[in-house]
Amino acid sequence: MRTSILALAAAVVLTGSAQAQTYPQRPINMIVPFAAGGPTDIVARIVAENMSKTLGQQIVVENVAGAGGTTGITRAAQSKPDGYTIMMGHMGTHGAAPALYPNLKYDPTKDFEPIGMAAGTPILIVAKKDFPANNLKEMIAYLKANSDKVNQAHAGIGAVSHMTCILFNSQIGVKPAAVPYSGTGPALNDLVSGQVDYMCDQIVNLVSQIKAGSIKAFAIAMPERSPALPDVPTTKEAGMPDYEVTAWNAVFAPKDTPKEIVTALSSALDKALDDAGTKGRLLDLGGVLPTKAERGGDWLGAFVKKEVARWTPVLKEASK
Ligand code: MLT
Repeated sequence: MRTSILALAAAVVLTGSAQAQTYPQRPINMIVPFAAGGPTDIVARIVAENMSKTLGQQIVVENVAGAGGTTGITRAAQSKPDGYTIMMGHMGTHGAAPALYPNLKYDPTKDFEPIGMAAGTPILIVAKKDFPANNLKEMIAYLKANSDKVNQAHAGIGAVSHMTCILFNSQIGVKPAAVPYSGTGPALNDLVSGQVDYMCDQIVNLVSQIKAGSIKAFAIAMPERSPALPDVPTTKEAGMPDYEVTAWNAVFAPKDTPKEIVTALSSALDKALDDAGTKGRLLDLGGVLPTKAERGGDWLGAFVKKEVARWTPVLKEASK
């Protein structure tokens, strides 16, 4: 009896490892927890294209939007851990969500195999093109005087655009009406057409609309200006030095995905970030690439723990 249980256990281990050695044999599904065309989708599609070449199988992006990204991440976390479902998480889904969702169905620090950081995405304060202000100070003055009239777009509770505007609004002392979207891709369309007044969003979604003059950018929440938008002042230059925040997008697999598969995915992501074309596309959009020391699953796992610990008290205080 004992022999047959051992034999069975050995067979299971061998099957898992043989499966990992031949991975991938079919397309891989990458869940993006927001609408197509927004920042997470943009970063995901850029890195997935190059990773697909390295892996020899297509990574197919699936947009599963809802509840500030937590619907898609919950589904991905509960998928079979066989390497054929992975996800693009971010500072909201894996940093802010525990503070804002008391019944969150996943624990960002325990329920995933981290694959690696894909790109940092600095936050900008942007408004519709005819917003009656020409700089951040005037914008803040207008928001304070018209708090009951203005509205702010975001991509659902806990999304980056929500959490970073909670901070912005609480620092300047306003509580505007919030308009939730399935992602800042569709929110940006409404900002361009003037349906909503302002938002706090990730740079990769915004560069072309800012350059085209279809929206106004008041400040970028970084210590230095972005080479992708050299005319946009930093929050420090614009008079709000305490508001600095850069979001991030990172690839995860469900917990218990075999180690060899996690390694294959991490190496493919690392290679993508070293590829001149992939790098160039991310940089042109204002993305900040992880250094070599910030690559891989171990670094990301430790970073997520720090992010949850950092954001939980800040967001609980700012949402009071
Ligand atoms: C998106 O892709 O729509 C965004 O990452 C949403 C957000 O977190 O603000």
